[in-house]
Amino acid sequence: MPDRILVLYGSYRSDRTGIRLANYLVRGLKGRGNDAQLLDAREIGLPMLDRMYKEYAPGDAPQAMQTLAEQLRIADAFVFVAGEYNWGVQPGLKNLTDHFLEEWFWRPAAVASYSAGRLSGVRANLAWHGTLSEMGMVVIPSTVAVGPIVKTLDENGAPIGEAGQALDRAFARFADDLAWWTAAAKHQRERTPPPY
Ligand SMILES: Cc1cc2nc3c(=O)[nH]c(=O)nc-3n(C[C@H](O)[C@H](O)[C@H](O)COP(=O)(O)O)c2cc1C
Repeated sequence: MPDRILVLYGSYRSDRTGIRLANYLVRGLKGRGNDAQLLDAREIGLPMLDRMYKEYAPGDAPQAMQTLAEQLRIADAFVFVAGEYNWGVQPGLKNLTDHFLEEWFWRPAAVASYSAGRLSGVRANLAWHGTLSEMGMVVIPSTVAVGPIVKTLDENGAPIGEAGQALDRAFARFADDLAWWTAAAKHQRERTPPPY
């Protein structure tokens, strides 16, 4: 059974560029035999957080939240595509993430960041580490950091020139690392049910 990997991206901007990296990652993960899927927070369109999913009575959560909860529960791993706004995380993705808690537990997460400049969103990347740990995911050591994104990936998420080649090399290691931790967590969940 292929690993079910959700790639989460959360810019709501009309002229957003991070979608290039999200598409690149989904394509690359699929190319390695994974069942990879993009979760685009803008498309899902949850409102600003009022009630978390678990605060609704069973069956009362809005349909989009219900569907998302089910997708999160059966995923084997998560990849967070981290853009950076003023040294922080993008609010659209953080808002989606905050609607859930237990639905994230006991799976690995990986962070892939990007920005318009050379710093590649590394401050948002770092911020996600703490958030994802708090939410019960194990963050893998490897990361991908892309910048400037429009000089690395074209509109279709295809690598450009030397920067694109460097990303392909980084991605191979990143995906190997994610696959290892995904298998480790999968086997452990099968062997010993999570304690809570
Ligand atoms: C409100 C705002 C704040 C930004 N702050 C940063 C920043 O702190 N560091 C950085 O490298 N780029 C920053 N940028 C530039 C982004 O890296 C660039 O706009 C990128 O394309 C944003 O991702 P998106 O296009 O997927 O929304 C900022 C952009 C916006 C719109």
